[in-house]
Amino acid sequence: MEETKPQLFKITFDGIEVEVEPGTTIMQAARKIAEADQSQTSIVPPAMCYYKPLPASGGKCRACLVKVAQGSAKDTRPMPKLVPSCITQVQDGMVVENTTNEAVLEARKGIVEFLLINHPLDCPVCDQAGECNLQDFAFEHGSAHTRYEEERRTFEKKDIGPYVQLHMTRCILCYRCVYTADQVTNKREHGVMNRGDASEISTYIEKSIDNDFSGNIIDVCPVGALTDKTYRFKNRVWFSKPEDAHCDCDKCSGKVILWYRGDEVIRVTARKNTWGEVNEFICNTCRFERKKTSDWVLEGPTKVKRSSVISANKYRSDLVKKPDFALKLAATQFKNIDDTREYVTDKDTIRHQSIENNDKANHRSLLNQNN
Ligand code: SF4
Ligand code: FES
Repeated sequence: MEETKPQLFKITFDGIEVEVEPGTTIMQAARKIAEADQSQTSIVPPAMCYYKPLPASGGKCRACLVKVAQGSAKDTRPMPKLVPSCITQVQDGMVVENTTNEAVLEARKGIVEFLLINHPLDCPVCDQAGECNLQDFAFEHGSAHTRYEEERRTFEKKDIGPYVQLHMTRCILCYRCVYTADQVTNKREHGVMNRGDASEISTYIEKSIDNDFSGNIIDVCPVGALTDKTYRFKNRVWFSKPEDAHCDCDKCSGKVILWYRGDEVIRVTARKNTWGEVNEFICNTCRFERKKTSDWVLEGPTKVKRSSVISANKYRSDLVKKPDFALKLAATQFKNIDDTREYVTDKDTIRHQSIENNDKANHRSLLNQNN
């Protein structure tokens, strides 16, 4: 018998039409648009708790709020409040606004402020800096000021097992680590205890997390609350060189990223997709015990999302395709540099010329401001 395809729902997201299967969430519809056209990546709502490989995730942080300007083709009324796009399913004819709606952008600023109420601003010493979802979220959607004056929640750091350290002060209670433990182990040993502002991630009666896949909670944590004890304070992520590698492992897929400092493997993590989600969870043996290049078959440099600091200075100039508009601009604005001037070595003259140049620049900028 011929299989009948499900009727697709057509939705409009930030003015772009896309067809998706019934049951798809607004977030997934937006990701579908961006996957078909990479120049649209910025329209995808940010996610701090939703994580596609973890089916129960989402609906906790409100980072992904969007405006449904038309509920469906049948019921064209807008939804009265902003809705979390990661758990709201599309309807046929739905019209959604994200980057095109000011109320959404304003609400998002509030969510950043809310998440930062208790989160410490310790990026300069945090291992997650450079690959922290909250850092990116605050940079892209937050405001530069805080109105919070009260005391923040603070916790002692806790070792929760041989490999993982919990820095609860940084936790944003997204539940990703809890769902990961549910998914990759038969017996979860940690969870969110207590309610409201007393909520915290903890192991049951100070137990340790020591199952074979416990390291994956480090990869899913959007902030630096769960850190790899074998990697802590070893390197800033943008100074490391990530390489794809695999091995023949009987517990997991063995597909990993090796993070190098010089010739030394300082960290092993699972591979992630465009949205920062783990492709396949890896075992603790691969993550913590195979730290020699000879343990692995190297596949080549990891392709990192270009907007990440991890990719800084890691692309050879002959591999980077300059955008057309930049080439055109360079061609029309190209000027020969006048290098016939005398080479000045005398310190006083250099100082004098530098003061003069600064004055000229200040004068030009004043003129621009007044015009
Ligand atoms: S420890 Fe990390 S992954 Fe777990 S709830 Fe807190 S922020 Fe989320
Ligand atoms: S990502 Fe949707 S509520 Fe957190």
